[in-house]
Amino acid sequence: MNVQRTNIAPHGGKLIQRELTGEAREVYLEKCKSLFSLTISKWNVSDLEMISNGGFSPLIGFMGKADYQSVISDMHLVNGLPWTIPITLPVSKEEAGEIKIGDEVALFKDDGELTGIILVEEKFSYDKILEAKLVYKTVDHDHPGVKKLFEQGEVYVAGPIYVINKALHEPFEKFHLSPAETRKLFADLNWKTVVGFQTRNPVHRAHEYLQKTALETVDGLLLHPLVGETKKDDIPANIRMESYQELLKNYYPSNRVLLAIYPAAMRYAGPREAVFHAIVRKNYGCTHFIVGRDHAGVGDYYGTYEAQDIFSEFDPLKIGIKPLFFEHSFYCKKCGNMASVKTCPHKEEDRFILSGTKVRDMLRKGLIPPLEFTRPEVAEVLIRGMKINDGEGK
Ligand code: ADX
Repeated sequence: MNVQRTNIAPHGGKLIQRELTGEAREVYLEKCKSLFSLTISKWNVSDLEMISNGGFSPLIGFMGKADYQSVISDMHLVNGLPWTIPITLPVSKEEAGEIKIGDEVALFKDDGELTGIILVEEKFSYDKILEAKLVYKTVDHDHPGVKKLFEQGEVYVAGPIYVINKALHEPFEKFHLSPAETRKLFADLNWKTVVGFQTRNPVHRAHEYLQKTALETVDGLLLHPLVGETKKDDIPANIRMESYQELLKNYYPSNRVLLAIYPAAMRYAGPREAVFHAIVRKNYGCTHFIVGRDHAGVGDYYGTYEAQDIFSEFDPLKIGIKPLFFEHSFYCKKCGNMASVKTCPHKEEDRFILSGTKVRDMLRKGLIPPLEFTRPEVAEVLIRGMKINDGEGK
């Protein structure tokens, strides 16, 4: 059969692969026993995975000073490609003192498992306040991304990486697909246009409305929930994953949707992270990407549509994936369906709007939020999951 592939090029033209396998892996497993070892954070482990699986193409390692500075101040890599979030490996001054340029360093997870190696080409100190201001637009330590930044080491080590032991992502290994694998699946399904959807939340009716509106005009949907580190009060990934499956089973055509995990950490960097999310989903083979209201936002650090406006600062050809912008969506009682101000003429009081906090409170109390806000099957999974997690003291 002549399979037509989605022909969207990865960022920079080539899908990066930095996983050691076979004999090379065996050699490094042995070699790592005598290398200097660094324990890196969960956030950095997930970045390592994203570099190695090609999700962060064209990066082949943690950023050096020139790329870092260009990304934080100009939102482009030195080679001119758009890139909005620094991908860096912080270490303490003491650790930096022990690492020499040219060293290979073994990278360990906090549970003691070897994950990969870095060939250290540079070490540099950086200005946390400047990075916070430019990337997060605030230095407020209540911002979860800023908080992480100020807690991390003072020196960045940079250079190409390899993953030695691939992350497993149990219990959702079957949804763990690399960009090469999603690209192949899209081709096998003959999807020429695919819309990517990022979320760190359960999929509620507004999300569903955005996805299905987009799905009316493209061949397939990649439901791509972030399962890396999130802030404490976000609903844990294991519960969300179960709720997505329940939702898809009951309300989506199975031949038009692919559910896969996005292993990266959530930065909450609003507009910059929206561009970053879009570029990464291009690497996964998406041709379109949904950006709704306050994408990747937290608190009120960003304007409602800032994550959409920022795209106008880039050459669309260099971004290479089409962002689909959506207004704030809600259920309108008078329309009797989901809508936005673009499609609904009614008043504010006719609209059904619930805050995320209110919904989480209802779920914790075991109450099913109204049908206009969430599908009951989803709410049931969330209530059950939150009870178990709270019971386990998570
Ligand atoms: S996040 O990753 O962007 O923080 P979230 O789950 O809150 O995840 O949102 C996923 C996507 O849906 C984002 O593009 C966001 O802008 C969009 N979105 C969420 N709720 C709404 C809504 N009520 N109206 C329009 N867009 C929304």
